[in-house]
Amino acid sequence: MADLPEHVARNRAYWDAMAGDWVAPGRRNWQQDEPHWGVWQIPESEAKLLPTDLAGKDVIELGCGTAYVSAWLARRGARPVGIDNSAKQLETARAFQREFGLDFPLLHGNAENVPFPDASFDLAISEYGAAIWADPYKWIPEAARILRPGGQLIFLGNGVLFMLTVPDTDAEGPATDRLIRDYFGMYRFEWPEEDSVEFHLGYGDMIRLLHSSGLEVEDLVELRPAEGATTRFPYMSAEWARRWPSEDVWKARKRA
Ligand SMILES: C[S@@+](CC[C@H](N)C(=O)[O-])C[C@H]1O[C@@H](n2cnc3c(N)ncnc32)[C@H](O)[C@@H]1O
Repeated sequence: MADLPEHVARNRAYWDAMAGDWVAPGRRNWQQDEPHWGVWQIPESEAKLLPTDLAGKDVIELGCGTAYVSAWLARRGARPVGIDNSAKQLETARAFQREFGLDFPLLHGNAENVPFPDASFDLAISEYGAAIWADPYKWIPEAARILRPGGQLIFLGNGVLFMLTVPDTDAEGPATDRLIRDYFGMYRFEWPEEDSVEFHLGYGDMIRLLHSSGLEVEDLVELRPAEGATTRFPYMSAEWARRWPSEDVWKARKRA
């Protein structure tokens, strides 16, 4: 713990404490055969985030939490490995592996410093894992390092406009149509009522970071929920998310 970066140590304690709240949502996702993404649970048939052929692919999920994304990929023939900073989240993931009869390696560690040699994976993926909880200037170059040439990085997190318009606390309600934070310089986020650290970059900074890490941007999928969609998260409303992208998915490929 002592040699962990400050934000990683804080996020470890935060996620260990939160893990109990993620068991039921984790089980719902493990039960689903078709992936359903993000806070709106948009089905893969609509979102089209995954490569069509995953059979035999070496995949790493960076910040896997309860590891349902890895489970979805394993059922499609991939060979996933999950890494997560929280031992408690991994305990839940291991319990689900037993419950659902699926086994793949799960590692306790920091996605900014992954214990694998260069060029070990065909796909690195993160849904609200490293994507928002790890420092992008560390985890994205690290993901690029462990990808094979031609390998793909896919990560999903909160949309940029959402990060600029969501109030500080859930009690203040969901994101509004008012910009309350600066776009320029956006990077590290802390909330008054949470002892955790998130990271969110603006578009130009993200494109430059991916490029300088040896990755070519292939797509930026701005997820839009269906009319009348609902979410269990109080900081987001369907009305807002129908007008602006509440979630961004970056797809990038390591230069061959
Ligand atoms: C919201 S969960 C993501 C998993 C799942 N897709 C989900 O949405 O429930 C966030 C996870 O990121 C993990 N995490 C945070 N910082 C991390 C880091 N530096 N390296 C690896 N995992 C990290 C947390 O421990 C937590 O389990």
